[in-house]
Amino acid sequence: MIRKPFHYGGTVGKLHFCNRTIEINELKADLDSGLNLLLYAPRRFGKTSLVLHTLKQTDYQYIFLDFMSIVDEHEFINEYFNAIAKSLNTTADKVVDFFKKILKITPNISVNFDINGAPSFKLNFLHSENKIVLKEVLELPYLYAKHHKKRVVVIFDEFQEVVNLGIEDKLRSVLQHHEDLVSYLFLGSKKSIMTNLFFNSTKPFHKSVKHLPINAIEAQHWQSYIQEGFATHKKTIAPAHIDAILAVSKGFPYYTQQIASELFNGVEKHVADDSVAEAVTALLEKEEDLFLNEWNRLSQQQKKALKFLIHFGGENIYQKEKMETFNFTSSSLKKAVEGLVAKDVIDMKQHCYYLQDPLFELFLKRM
Ligand SMILES: Nc1ncnc2c1ncn2[C@@H]1O[C@H](COP(=O)(O)OP(=O)(O)OP(=O)(O)O)[C@@H](O)[C@H]1O
Ligand SMILES: [Mg+2]
Repeated sequence: MIRKPFHYGGTVGKLHFCNRTIEINELKADLDSGLNLLLYAPRRFGKTSLVLHTLKQTDYQYIFLDFMSIVDEHEFINEYFNAIAKSLNTTADKVVDFFKKILKITPNISVNFDINGAPSFKLNFLHSENKIVLKEVLELPYLYAKHHKKRVVVIFDEFQEVVNLGIEDKLRSVLQHHEDLVSYLFLGSKKSIMTNLFFNSTKPFHKSVKHLPINAIEAQHWQSYIQEGFATHKKTIAPAHIDAILAVSKGFPYYTQQIASELFNGVEKHVADDSVAEAVTALLEKEEDLFLNEWNRLSQQQKKALKFLIHFGGENIYQKEKMETFNFTSSSLKKAVEGLVAKDVIDMKQHCYYLQDPLFELFLKRM
């Protein structure tokens, strides 16, 4: 049985990866130049996939830490320590020996093995020792790189969560001394928090990174990717149907894969004309809870402003007649729009507001 050609949910690697050649090349070049990088995009846009897929094509040793589930400083230290230890890719004994040699504190390290024999590492220390252990662990990638005379890359995924841990100042003060040997990649799905962290002159990470842009994947690449995916199982899909998928997904990777996958699963041989519309309706039904949650976390004014934006489009929104239709004053509309930007529901491109999530937009249009 040949593997299914489309995949959504979680990161995708070589098998399901569509294009992004420009981003991959830029990322490689930036890493070779020893830069620290900032990459933000909406949820499920392909950030983690892009970075891991690219790193796997290089010789860099990389450490990957996802901040999403980390709740406090103590847990950060242990999760980071574990991520560093795992990246060493050697036996558990050698990892422990190495840390004993390199750490100034005398570490109490325990190792557990899962059912596949893969180790996970834990540093045992008291909460009262957080400060000192944090500093030591933050230095580890640098010490490792120095010891082995090779550059190390650290990926901090969902980095916006750092603001809940209260360790930004400490992180910055340690990491800024690592430039010659460690590159840090900060990924995030909350543009508002990420830009505030890195571009607000009062914040610790101000100007410490280069921003790496990541765009929706272009239609031409999806055309060949989706056609080839269908062909692996001797099925076909017309270019016009792929255009219809992209008209809805706007090239947003997760949704493009999801719709393609629905279509693929539902067809014997050739995709029929009304199948795309049916697949989109099915998708909206599947995601209804998620979209309703998204809707319910907005204030009444923000809900109204979203309806306004959907009705009039995102350009020249402060025209008097438009505002009057929705009973907005310029200050009440401004406040609601700023709230929607802060909640990462909308963003602005070329003086035009747009909803970040194309399927949420469609959901609201049909609501
Ligand atoms: N280059 C790509 N080619 C094809 N599909 C992709 C690509 N990148 C991402 N996807 C699709 O998007 C989904 C989400 O990708 P990924 O987890 O990398 O995004 P993310 O931005 O890191 O999301 P999150 O914010 O949820 O962590 C994947 O499961 C896949 O369906
Ligand atoms: Mg991710």
